[in-house]
Amino acid sequence: MLGGVAFTLGVGPVGAAERERYGSMGREATGAVPRTPLPAFLPVAFVGAGSMARALVGGLLAAGFAGPADVRVTNRSDRERLRSMAETFKVRTYRGGARGRAATLRGARAVVLATKPQDAPVALDQCREVLETLGERPLVISVVAGLSTRAVEDRLPPGTPVVRAMPNTSCQVGRSATALAGGRWAAESDLEAARLLFGSVGFVVEVPEEQMDAVTGLSGSGPAYIYLMLEAMTEAGASLGLPPDLAYRLALETLRGAVSTALLTSESPAELKRRVTSPGGTTMAGLAVLEESGFKRAVIEAVRRASERSAQLAAHGRTSGYRAEGDRPA
Ligand SMILES: NC(=O)c1ccc[n+]([C@@H]2O[C@H](COP(=O)([O-])OP(=O)(O)OC[C@H]3O[C@@H](n4cnc5c(N)ncnc54)[C@H](OP(=O)(O)O)[C@@H]3O)[C@@H](O)[C@H]2O)c1
Repeated sequence: MLGGVAFTLGVGPVGAAERERYGSMGREATGAVPRTPLPAFLPVAFVGAGSMARALVGGLLAAGFAGPADVRVTNRSDRERLRSMAETFKVRTYRGGARGRAATLRGARAVVLATKPQDAPVALDQCREVLETLGERPLVISVVAGLSTRAVEDRLPPGTPVVRAMPNTSCQVGRSATALAGGRWAAESDLEAARLLFGSVGFVVEVPEEQMDAVTGLSGSGPAYIYLMLEAMTEAGASLGLPPDLAYRLALETLRGAVSTALLTSESPAELKRRVTSPGGTTMAGLAVLEESGFKRAVIEAVRRASERSAQLAAHGRTSGYRAEGDRPA
């Protein structure tokens, strides 16, 4: 508990308990028998084979929560991306098109929608067609920014459970901060499946859906703010005569050390800051400049603006396609 914030859930990178419970599914592809039944989201189908899908697939396999045979991926037309996924992860990939989509979705217990927002309506309509034909109602997990659970539900067969997720790019190293919100028909078991899936690539928390824009501004876009800080500290070190590589490494290790310290303590950031600041010392001189130049205000404003932008995109989506009728593909 920090500053009065209570997390509804924190799964974090896959822990011993989960491994014990589900065994190492990664071994399944090589013939070993899993110790317990598959997690409720397997087999899982990815609609979209971009950076987010790639990061999630990589995280799932690395965590041992899924074997390659449990993961199917399809996209629209980029065969090279599919080839690369198949080669890197040995997962099953299927070309876009009705047959490929059916092969991807058939029997899947979870479908992860990972297209760009503007492509989501068509992708959802295509999924609906397949699911109606197959008569299946898998859990649909959307990572599409600014797309509400309602908008997803409206384009799928009635009763389809939907969970909305906002991960970030640190998925690729198993350190995402992901927020989840369940839709109308998502049962606790569906949320549990989503928690498990995103828990394989980092920290997971459940939030009311109206908080998703704030989450997007904070942790969805957050890695970029930290990279800017890293860039600025590196440039500063280099401008003072340090070799740029060394300046970069020192800045990087400093960020890592500060984050690790904050993770290990229950002290607030203000207290941690106070501890490294002695009166009249070097840190105080540096912090004074940050305070004079409005650093903290600027960061707050950045998160606020990104959050507003997320809300705008969602509103735009509502009026321009996510829920529009009549644009079903042939
Ligand atoms: N990157 C982030 O930091 C981040 C964080 C949180 C959430 N997200 C969300 O994640 C989603 C994906 O982002 P991304 O960066 O992975 O995008 P991306 O790299 O552009 O990948 C999008 C994928 O969607 C596929 N696609 C498009 N239309 C399709 C259709 N009708 N059927 C099947 N596949 C289709 C594309 O296929 P082709 O290549 O064949 O066109 C491509 O493989 C976005 O909605 C974004 O808001 C991203």
